[in-house]
Amino acid sequence: MDRPILVTGGTGTLGRALVARLLADGVPVRVMSRRPHRADDDRPYEWAVCDLVQGTGLDAALADVRAVVHCATNARNDVAATRQLADAARRAGVPHLVYVSIVGIKTIPLPYYRSKLEAERIVRESGLPWTTLRTTQFHDLVATLTTVQRRLPVVLTLSGVRFQSIEVTEVADRLAELAQGAPAGRVPDMAGPEIREARDLAAATLRAAGLRKRVVPVRLPGKIIRNLRAGGNLAPDRAVGTATFEEFLAARGRTGR
Ligand SMILES: NC(=O)c1ccc[n+]([C@@H]2O[C@H](COP(=O)([O-])OP(=O)(O)OC[C@H]3O[C@@H](n4cnc5c(N)ncnc54)[C@H](OP(=O)(O)O)[C@@H]3O)[C@@H](O)[C@H]2O)c1
Repeated sequence: MDRPILVTGGTGTLGRALVARLLADGVPVRVMSRRPHRADDDRPYEWAVCDLVQGTGLDAALADVRAVVHCATNARNDVAATRQLADAARRAGVPHLVYVSIVGIKTIPLPYYRSKLEAERIVRESGLPWTTLRTTQFHDLVATLTTVQRRLPVVLTLSGVRFQSIEVTEVADRLAELAQGAPAGRVPDMAGPEIREARDLAAATLRAAGLRKRVVPVRLPGKIIRNLRAGGNLAPDRAVGTATFEEFLAARGRTGR
């Protein structure tokens, strides 16, 4: 039996898609989560209970894996979590650490993006063979920007901001390929097929949900918004994703998933 690939954040939006892809490829998988394995989950993977911030369960999670794909994220603790993972992976002699990051983290000074930049550095300087892929926002996240405002009388969007969102399963496919290949360092970014105004994406999300509401673009000041308006979150020359936002909305139906 081949050694498993460990997916941190294997219960999250990206992690679930990656685990499904690897299993479909016949690759043994170990899912890392802070929660115990549900008794009614009979999918064919191993389960490792681990908290990357507390540093609990790491040695068992990392024992005898052929690669780690680090999809876990926790907005306030990503740096500490990535450091714990990299240190433990080095002790365990993990042959390949794969990290997923975000397009534009260098130009857009969001605190979360600063922590992604630092986590990238930790992976790069970990002493382990590594691969890092940056992608644009997933369609799921862009839809959530609208659906979280379900109870408001209108939907607010950022005026002048555009997204080039991507289908998460396409990112998962690429990560599965990278995890099974040789460590490659920083690989070319991945972005979705279309660049669309935030207000247009909000309107599409409302239509798909059967909701009638006004979309109100709000013009905010500040460096973060200025860099977003300038397209710092986009990668027009890396529009390699094929599934459009409308295709994503149609596939998930009215209720979301
Ligand atoms: N969402 C996007 O649009 C987007 C775009 C580009 C890149 N990315 C990157 O893709 C990665 C995955 O994002 P996502 O949206 O799929 O995340 P998500 O759905 O929020 O999932 C987060 C995962 O992290 C795990 N986790 C959180 N804290 C943990 C801890 N202390 N120890 C161990 N596991 C912990 C959670 O597992 P449990 O709750 O089961 O413990 C969960 O599976 C992130 O690195 C993110 O920056 C996301």
